Amino acid sequence: MTLPDRIRLVVLFGGRSAEHEISCSSAANVVRALDPDRYAVELVGIDQSGTWHRAEAAEALLARGPASMPAALPLEGPVVGREVALRPAGAGVDPDVPTVVFPVLHGPNGEDGTVQGFLELLDVAYVGSGVLGSALCMDKAAAKTVLDAHHIPQCRWLQVDRSVLDDAAHRAVVLSRLGQKVFVKPANLGSSVGISVCSGDDELLEGLREAFRYDRVVVVEEALSVRELETAVLGPAEDLRVSTVGEVIPAADAPFYDYTAKYLSDSSQTEVPGDSSQTEVPGDSSRTEVPADVPHDVIEGARSLAVQAARALRVEGMARVDLFLTDDDRLLVNEVNTIPGFTNISMYPELWGASGVGYRELIDELVALALRRHADLAQLQRSRTDGAQ
Ligand SMILES: Nc1ncnc2c1ncn2[C@@H]1O[C@H](COP(=O)(O)OP(=O)(O)O)[C@@H](O)[C@H]1O
Ligand SMILES: [Mg+2]
Repeated sequence: MTLPDRIRLVVLFGGRSAEHEISCSSAANVVRALDPDRYAVELVGIDQSGTWHRAEAAEALLARGPASMPAALPLEGPVVGREVALRPAGAGVDPDVPTVVFPVLHGPNGEDGTVQGFLELLDVAYVGSGVLGSALCMDKAAAKTVLDAHHIPQCRWLQVDRSVLDDAAHRAVVLSRLGQKVFVKPANLGSSVGISVCSGDDELLEGLREAFRYDRVVVVEEALSVRELETAVLGPAEDLRVSTVGEVIPAADAPFYDYTAKYLSDSSQTEVPGDSSQTEVPGDSSRTEVPADVPHDVIEGARSLAVQAARALRVEGMARVDLFLTDDDRLLVNEVNTIPGFTNISMYPELWGASGVGYRELIDELVALALRRHADLAQLQRSRTDGAQ
């Protein structure tokens, strides 16, 4: 795919979500990888209250060269109107230079279709999935419903609303259908926030209360003993390519691959060496292995399932597909992330690196896909033509 020589790239980062800090680290890596000759980069930071800032401090650091970029982008700078920040031909911008927005925003208010809807209204090209794909993948209950409709294997699960808190009989049905040990998850969140593993009704009630702090819809799943495989897709909706498969091996003492195991601890700054096959994930012993040490047919099964899941969920551009490999060798889809992490320890860029697509090439391709999708949509007929007009 050919890219224009010059592109105005607006990187949106931060965001009103529990994954705000992760976004700031992801954005720093994305920006650092860009070819300065091709990209005129504008940085727009969204703070925890949802206010947009022209991130001038970060832009000044970037102007000094990629090497001076900190591990996480600071979002300080003047408040800017949302539309002004993204306007394709703002003052001083050459109208012939195409604009692409890269929403490096994880979780609600960024990865869930809201920002994508805003960008659609502004008619600007943006990286990643559209409104529907983003919203479907963000909502675990909606995603599971669609995956079931496509007969894509996943663990047994049920959707509950807040009425379950006062309904012991309903909770008993949940446990009898899913088993006594379950995972309780807010439908709309990520990074393991609000998730608990519960055994029996007392813990279930506690887990539900916790999950309902974050969302009004909660998913309860059978707790399985699994290995966690991840793979990455890249491409237009109808022609997604899939990377090799990696494994996430949570720390032995982590209750599951929780927030702490994912991001916190001293080693979270570990650089991912280009040729690494094993990378320490924070927590003393969580790590990733790329490629996963599983039989070839499991790798191929995971890759095929990932593409099926991504297509069913209307993914475009990019996604990381997370799978479970059960003790009895079944492959299940766990979840699909439409804006995967780009931090130093993130799997998405690592999986592509291991599949021969370097960081800079990856970002270039994502930007090219955004422009292609935007041009594609512009070609669609928007009204009926039957010759009568
Ligand atoms: N049904 C399950 N059985 C076993 N482990 C699970 C199950 N669901 C989630 N987990 C564990 O919890 C982690 C977080 O769950 P996940 O659904 O991926 O939430 P998030 O969207 O926050 O990443 C998973 O990576 C895995 O370690
Ligand atoms: Mg997950």
